[in-house]
Amino acid sequence: MKYLIFVLFVTFSLSGNCQKYGNIAKTPPMGWNSWNYFECDNVNEDVIKEMADAMVSTGMKDIGYEYINVDDCWQIGRDSLGNIIVDSLKFPNGMKHLADYIHSKGLKFGIYSDAGTHTCAGRPGSKGFEKIDAQTYAEWGVDYLKYDWCNTEGQEPIESYTLMRDALYEAGRPIVFSICDWGISETWKWAGDVGHLWRTTYDITDRWDGTRWGNQLGIVNIIEKQNGLEEYAKPGKWNDPDMLEVGNPGLTTNESRVHFTMWCMLAAPLITGNDLRNMPNEISEILMNSELIAINQDILGKQGFKVYDEGNFEIWQKPLINGDIAICFLNLENKEKQFQVNWKEINIKGFKGQYAIKNLWENKMKKSTNEELSISIPPRDVWIVRLINQN
Ligand code: GLA
Repeated sequence: MKYLIFVLFVTFSLSGNCQKYGNIAKTPPMGWNSWNYFECDNVNEDVIKEMADAMVSTGMKDIGYEYINVDDCWQIGRDSLGNIIVDSLKFPNGMKHLADYIHSKGLKFGIYSDAGTHTCAGRPGSKGFEKIDAQTYAEWGVDYLKYDWCNTEGQEPIESYTLMRDALYEAGRPIVFSICDWGISETWKWAGDVGHLWRTTYDITDRWDGTRWGNQLGIVNIIEKQNGLEEYAKPGKWNDPDMLEVGNPGLTTNESRVHFTMWCMLAAPLITGNDLRNMPNEISEILMNSELIAINQDILGKQGFKVYDEGNFEIWQKPLINGDIAICFLNLENKEKQFQVNWKEINIKGFKGQYAIKNLWENKMKKSTNEELSISIPPRDVWIVRLINQN
């Protein structure tokens, strides 16, 4: 009996404090986050509620998007007991009210904090308040926490993120834990047991390539940093090349299509970052392409990788369930690209010979992989197919 009590105690104390929540984020999380479009100044309760409404009315919820995430600038201070104080100018009814509203729509609620003393926008961070914050989030009904890395001088990432992971676990509510140290600690090497997703780069911005303000990265710049990280992605453990800029003003429609297609190929979290209330049709068609989303959400959880590179023309593959394979032809050049596809010669890993071909943007079947195919890809665009296994 004494032995049994001891075993129970050890099991309980280990499982009580030292793990992340399992069984969530088994496929890449899908949702929306306030930062990319509303940033600090324009985020508030009305915007968040309207975004939840739009997620339902556009049909995005039905296709799999579920999280509505408030990023930085919802918090303003701490009371004498250390409890976080909500910015009541922006969120007059508090976070529990907002969580309830979002849950009443059948959606989930996400929030943001920082491992340091202050967030990146200078609001209070969670350093020294991990337990009390995790407890508060659980009480409010938070389902997702993005945890940033500003103002962390002298802190060690694994230690700081593990502290919050354990605090969340102890708080007793399953919360997706999104690690945001921008990949500076080679985060993919350690984060799989700590969080459900982890950023791999500095911040994305709505431009095709290059950088803005020094360290904000265009989408091509980010894509090129993902190849090689595929071995770390698995169900419940995702590389995060940052939230989507699809539909934001700095990208054309075809650039947005490249962006979304590649995030699907990369098994990246699909956290939209545009104004869902005002989406032109061509943008909602991108965000709601069910064939592409099926590639992203494929239960094998394999991240795509590059198999062919001519410089400004690349081919990527993503292994899928039942031996299917997604193949994406990526034209980075600002002019049309003609290419003769000989399926056996483009270096596809695990290629067995006989597949039917489905074009995922045209939603059409093509010839089979037995025949060569001539393709023509418009400037800065993609041609993506699902090879359906017939071997
Ligand atoms: C950092 C993060 C962004 C965003 C801002 C908020 O830059 O990487 O995604 O959360 O902070 O201040």
